[in-house]
Amino acid sequence: MAERKRIYVRGIGSYLPEKILTNSDLERMVDTSDEWIVTRTGIRERHIAAEGQITSDLATEAAKKALADADLCPDDVDIVLVTTVVPDMQFPSTACFVQQKLGIGTKCPCVGMEVGCSGMIYLMELAAGLLERGPYRNVLTIAADKLSAVTDWTDRSTCVLLADGAAALVLTSENVKKRAELLGTFLAADGSGAEFLCMPGGGGRHPATAQTVADRLHYLKMNGREVFKRALTDMGHAVERLFERCSVGVDDVAHFIPHQANLRIIEAIAERLSIPMERVVAVLDRTGNTSSASLGIAWDMALQEGRFHEGDLIVPFAFGAGLTSAAALLRWIG
Ligand code: UT7
Repeated sequence: MAERKRIYVRGIGSYLPEKILTNSDLERMVDTSDEWIVTRTGIRERHIAAEGQITSDLATEAAKKALADADLCPDDVDIVLVTTVVPDMQFPSTACFVQQKLGIGTKCPCVGMEVGCSGMIYLMELAAGLLERGPYRNVLTIAADKLSAVTDWTDRSTCVLLADGAAALVLTSENVKKRAELLGTFLAADGSGAEFLCMPGGGGRHPATAQTVADRLHYLKMNGREVFKRALTDMGHAVERLFERCSVGVDDVAHFIPHQANLRIIEAIAERLSIPMERVVAVLDRTGNTSSASLGIAWDMALQEGRFHEGDLIVPFAFGAGLTSAAALLRWIG
């Protein structure tokens, strides 16, 4: 039997819009306080897209940076995969808009999906499958969300958390001695919890009407307490299953990169799995919860801070709408 191809991440990029919304700005919008937001979530500020700047714009900016990091140009891309829960339109796929904005040729297929916050790891797994089978050489994967477009700015339990951003990875089966090798993944989903985190309006179940608008169904809805509990158990489970699958343990891993939803969730998982916090990447004080993009943004920020060294094992892990959860193991190359 032919040996399995090795899969590499050869480029990473992320993008945060310029405009910053601070906790004190939010104090002027809803009944909340900087103290509540910081102690209950760890978030201090977040980035919000400009008027007219949409998910495909954020995605395109992150993709340009990932391609530059990979020393590639748009024409080198063989397929575009985009995960988002705030697509530019319900259809067609946001990936098609990104293809146009990047000026990638029409021979390049485009695929969209809505995996929520676990999306970046789901995309790595799908990209690996495409690369193993061929004929693709460079898979551009992008996770982007303009959550501010579906945020109910009168709901203090969600509006203080959500933010905008994008992240992109270029995956290849060619070892260019840069960035990281993908060693394994674990993906899961539990549709029984789907309604704990969703946007009910606008799909086939609740097509847009004056009533669905009046009922505020076109905003992100979250049962925070349930999602909090499930995030803890499901992310912990994903990391443990990944460890079993790859025969590694906590002490082998130099850096854990969790989904950036709530610092209390990150700290509780670190405690449960006996991970020292200095090995955990936490940037949500500056980014808020950027959903699909969160993990890739944290990864890129840690890279810019020079945290990774050759040979380091890295474990990104996430949890989100679906309810989906996922974890991946990579070895840093440089
Ligand atoms: O990205 C996908 C995954 N998402 C997540 O992982 C998010 C998971 N959930 C959470 O992070 C937390 O559940 C929240 C941050 C959403 C809420 O924190 P909590 O500690 O679970 O608060 P709670 O919902 O239990 O509410 C506690 C109190 C309530 O008041 P009462 O009923 O005790 O009087 C809320 O009304 O805090 C109140 N509250 C607020 N107070 C000030 C809720 N939101 C706010 C707010 N400012 N923004």
